[in-house]
Amino acid sequence: MSLPEEIIAQKRDGRALSHEEIRFWIEGVVSGDFLDYQSAALLMAIFLKGMDAEETAFLTEEMMHSGEVISLDEISLPKVDKHSTGGVGDKVSLILAPLAASVGLCVPMISGRGLGHTGGTLDKLESIPGFRTDLTIRSYRRQLESLGVAMVGQTEDFVPADKKLYALRDVTATVESLPLICASIMSKKLAEGIDSLVLDVKFGKGAFMKQKDDAIALAEAMVAIGRKMGKPTRAILTAMDQPLGCSVGNALEVIEVIECLQGRGPADVMEVTMTLTAHMMICAGVVNNLNEAFPFLQEKISSGAALDKFREIIKEQGGDEGVIDDYSRFPLAEHIVEVRAVQSGYVNEVNALEVGIISLKLGAGRSSIEESIDPAVGVSDLVKVGSKIEEGEVICRLHGNDGCFLAVVSEEIQSAFVIGEERKALLPLIHGVVIGESFD
Ligand code: URA
Repeated sequence: MSLPEEIIAQKRDGRALSHEEIRFWIEGVVSGDFLDYQSAALLMAIFLKGMDAEETAFLTEEMMHSGEVISLDEISLPKVDKHSTGGVGDKVSLILAPLAASVGLCVPMISGRGLGHTGGTLDKLESIPGFRTDLTIRSYRRQLESLGVAMVGQTEDFVPADKKLYALRDVTATVESLPLICASIMSKKLAEGIDSLVLDVKFGKGAFMKQKDDAIALAEAMVAIGRKMGKPTRAILTAMDQPLGCSVGNALEVIEVIECLQGRGPADVMEVTMTLTAHMMICAGVVNNLNEAFPFLQEKISSGAALDKFREIIKEQGGDEGVIDDYSRFPLAEHIVEVRAVQSGYVNEVNALEVGIISLKLGAGRSSIEESIDPAVGVSDLVKVGSKIEEGEVICRLHGNDGCFLAVVSEEIQSAFVIGEERKALLPLIHGVVIGESFD
């Protein structure tokens, strides 16, 4: 068997890794024999030299089997999940999971933490005081039986290789790699006990894939792996140029989620959420098309059933469900600074990458594995592309716990906004679907 440095050198020199070598790496990641700095070097080599489809499939398989692969055969409901490739302000999973469960789907959701400049579902959920995402497999199973939905993270038992590599990628600039994203997402999803899967593959300024063609290639790779493993998978391509919704940052985004579940959510968040949940219903075979699904979903929002389901999830996972009725129970930042428009006109751009990086710098994400995040900080009240604004109007609010740093950042964030005299045409949010081998 090769030594870790030989495997690193092989990928560094652009050669494919064998299944055996990938297994040796992943087993070593879990046992600790393949040291973190060696994995970091190998991740960078993969980032730079890529992996072919066969290597990517081997990596996915080994990561998926690094912990327990769950079977939920005893649950008779259709088991469908959704995963996003990552965006700024992307709080869709937190709305979609209770919504899908409220229409009778079972949603066994394993998510991740913040990655690069994007936020993560686990960090967002943990901004609810007491909320636990580290359920044992037994509790996960029990909750799926009783509530039809559980929202958990990778653990020592559950895709431990992704837990480790995800955290390493976050702080080593090795996130934006097709094979690494594909293996990370599909290993989690294939281990969690689903029947079928919907993917939200984002492209644009705030996504890991900047170009649509790269996003299509990622979508096709993941859909192919899903099919190969016998789990029907479809991928929806969505734009990620401006942040989704008006808030970025952990507690701030959960507050926006609660607004969405009460029918007061921003149009873009609701469009993506409704579309993805409707695709889950199609995968489950309970409707034939999107138009059939939307009235069911709308009813679950307007009746409060989806919000009630969110309340049940919070309670079951140890969180303070009182946050739903009283936002002051969330961790809140000490300082809030208003950022104002420097000129009148139309908002033609709100750069999601810049906003994501600012939120990260305020403390919403990590720059080392050991670092803890600040759940209270971030950006709220973001103006949306297409709005007409007057000079001096508030274009966003920054929430932070370091007043001096906030003053610096409030200057820096101005460059994220492009305001012009003419309104630019609005671009669509939903760009197509990859099902089977075709992109529509
Ligand atoms: N989500 C994941 O789980 N992994 C990635 O690499 C990107 C998004």
